[in-house]
Amino acid sequence: MEPIPQAGVGKRICIVGASGKLGRHMVRHALDRGYEVVGVCREQSVPKLDDFAGRITVIGADTNDREAVARAVEGCAAVLAVLVPWGVRDYSSGTARAVMDSAEPGARLVFSCGWHISRDGQDRYPRKIKAAVAFARLLRFTRLLDMDDQYRAADLIFASDTRWTLVRGSDLEEGPAEGLPVWSRHVGDPVLASNMTRRTDFARFMVEAAENDALVHEAPAIVGCRTPSALAHAGERE
Ligand SMILES: NC(=O)c1ccc[n+]([C@@H]2O[C@H](COP(=O)([O-])OP(=O)(O)OC[C@H]3O[C@@H](n4cnc5c(N)ncnc54)[C@H](OP(=O)(O)O)[C@@H]3O)[C@@H](O)[C@H]2O)c1
Repeated sequence: MEPIPQAGVGKRICIVGASGKLGRHMVRHALDRGYEVVGVCREQSVPKLDDFAGRITVIGADTNDREAVARAVEGCAAVLAVLVPWGVRDYSSGTARAVMDSAEPGARLVFSCGWHISRDGQDRYPRKIKAAVAFARLLRFTRLLDMDDQYRAADLIFASDTRWTLVRGSDLEEGPAEGLPVWSRHVGDPVLASNMTRRTDFARFMVEAAENDALVHEAPAIVGCRTPSALAHAGERE
């Protein structure tokens, strides 16, 4: 196995939404790269980070809690934030706003979302994705989720002059790492057609994006590097 580059030695990174599936993979990758990790997650989810006890600092708070996020991001060279559309109290946009308003000047900010977010309207979505998004938007009436708030969060990010990257995940699966996902600017590009990424690889992409200035002000749509579409079209990007 190749040695893991220790890009994070001497640097602090904050992971907002650390207790979720993606968040815990990101914590592991960040520790592997030598970062000092500060995690933020809902109070009731703090025990989900017990595996990392003694190795990370955990702040138990909602991820849109401005005061808690401000404390967590202090001194951080990078902030990785999971945007989720749960509830109808602007959780995604509140999380994005809290991170952008309180991060250190010049910090790298890397946010996660799905392919459904479009930066420039040039994405070409398969019918299945369009239908799933339309259905999810309708579910606002249940008050369990508010997809439109993820769009509001993305608009705030796109308009920001912080050093942001918005990583757009394909469908996800668990399983052993396959390698750093490949990316493209637009859903519909052939390289993305397989629409599947291992969650651990998505997390690695998030962590490495914090070290990659070429991704500043990009909204890469990612796909697993071992998927058929990635293998067939590797290296193609408009
Ligand atoms: N699932 C997919 O197929 C998929 C596809 C493409 C992109 N993505 C993106 O990948 C990222 C991670 O998604 P994931 O599906 O893999 O899930 P995940 O990592 O398990 O994250 C879910 C997050 O939502 C939080 N959460 C759950 N219920 C909540 C509630 N009622 N109120 C507030 N927060 C709540 C969780 O916090 P707790 O730990 O506190 O519960 C956790 O931080 C997201 O940005 C998502 O948009 C997902």
